[in-house]
Amino acid sequence: MSIELPQFGDVRTGIPIVDDQHRELLSLMGNLHDLLVSPGTGDDVQVFLMAREALLRYIGEHFACEERLMRCHGLDVRHVLLHLREHERFTHRAYMVALSHGDDFCVDDTRQLLEFLIHWWHSHLPTDRSMARQIAAVLAGSQASDAYDDDFSRFTLEAKRQS
Ligand SMILES: [Fe+2]
Ligand SMILES: [Fe+2]
Repeated sequence: MSIELPQFGDVRTGIPIVDDQHRELLSLMGNLHDLLVSPGTGDDVQVFLMAREALLRYIGEHFACEERLMRCHGLDVRHVLLHLREHERFTHRAYMVALSHGDDFCVDDTRQLLEFLIHWWHSHLPTDRSMARQIAAVLAGSQASDAYDDDFSRFTLEAKRQS
């Protein structure tokens, strides 16, 4: 069964530094995905391990960058706490998955890790995009609490309308 990686348009937020990092994450996921379909690499555990470590390390740096952006722009604590909690949950789960695979990480584990990451990322993107909209609102002069309330009511109502 093939894995469909997200396209850049699917993970775009409108904040250049975040989008650059999302693009790099897609590239690192692509490296792991290539190993799944490259004949002859299935036995080279070291190659899989290096690709996995590069991806997990970069995700940690990316989360730290988003968390700095939220602090620098003084976003509302309700958003910051939710966002941090989602990052923490991902980090915890990803390292549990990595630990459970140990140093024998290879094809099946790669598939499992990629599927987990893609699923998580889709569920987290609304939070990243909400952060981006609130930063734009703060830069345009809104109070952080108003930016949060406006974004929450607009997108919660929209989600309710669509359900
Ligand atoms: Fe995030
Ligand atoms: Fe992100």
